[in-house]
Amino acid sequence: MKEKIENLLEEVKAFNASNLEQLEAFRIKYLSKKGIITELFTEFRNVAPEKRKEMGQLMNGLKTAIQEKIVSLKEGLESTVESPDKPDLTLPSSAPLGSRHPLSIVRNDIIDIFSRIGFTVSEGPEIEDDFHNFSALNFPADHPARDMQDTFFIEKDPDIALRTHTSSVQVRVMESTTPPIRTISPGRVFRNEAISARAHCIFHQVEGLYVDTDVSFADLKQTLFHFAKELFGEKTKTRFRPSYFPFTEPSAEMDISCNICGGKGCNICKYTGWVEILGCGMVDPNVLELCNIDSKKYTGFAFGMGIERITMLKYQINDLRLFFENDVRFLDQFKSSI
Ligand code: DAH
Repeated sequence: MKEKIENLLEEVKAFNASNLEQLEAFRIKYLSKKGIITELFTEFRNVAPEKRKEMGQLMNGLKTAIQEKIVSLKEGLESTVESPDKPDLTLPSSAPLGSRHPLSIVRNDIIDIFSRIGFTVSEGPEIEDDFHNFSALNFPADHPARDMQDTFFIEKDPDIALRTHTSSVQVRVMESTTPPIRTISPGRVFRNEAISARAHCIFHQVEGLYVDTDVSFADLKQTLFHFAKELFGEKTKTRFRPSYFPFTEPSAEMDISCNICGGKGCNICKYTGWVEILGCGMVDPNVLELCNIDSKKYTGFAFGMGIERITMLKYQINDLRLFFENDVRFLDQFKSSI
């Protein structure tokens, strides 16, 4: 019997289980009512009295070894299943699919449309000096935009402010590039406005600039005509209304036929059938000269649009604040637009 117990002990020590089912089979084999340990205790009754102490100790040692083996193998197997280091790669993914922000979708669409007709993308700083944001763009000294009420100033004399429009980037491009220039500049702009459904103190614009010899208002119209159809669809109509900007002469605003009612009249277009989407014009010769470009040799056109406004029209969103709140219930709706 002694030999039998010692053999069993060797067997137990050598045992290993690769899953919980194998371990359970091991437990049943040794510890169940009809298992090996019960069998041994039955045999124990026939052991001679002088050997009982030794046999008893051996049998208890075997039983303890079995129990310890089960506990340690179980710990190992359970931690393998739950271990964060070893994810089960066969499980279906439960991570929610992200979506791009609607402003990014529309900004990328605008960039794509202009890239296809030869425009590059240029960027400039969000903190600007007076020259690039105002003076080089022909803003008179007493223009209301230069007032604290409209602009976030960081320093006074010399004036440093958060840029109020991306037109500052056209100044930087003209200063550092010899024409031909064909570029768009998307970016964030800042104005001292009360936040409401229709206005925000931070928003996004895309500025466009084309400077070369013989650039005419007809080039401006064709470019923007093409842009409107690409972004809002082939059926979109456009119209130009005279306007005023200090940095362009002549200046205009472009309307598109309301993409919501198709021009019939609705509350978005205020029953006119038209919605304004951008400002534009021929670059004022003064601006060219202030940026060291010969205004006798070169002419150019510029345009500027608000990305929020275009996104609101494209997706029929009626509150600007939704763009900045990052409510996932709002953002989730743009999954299919990526
Ligand atoms: N900078 C103007 C604004 O913020 C937008 C604009 C209008 C840009 C006409 C232009 C332009 O380049 O020609 O309202």
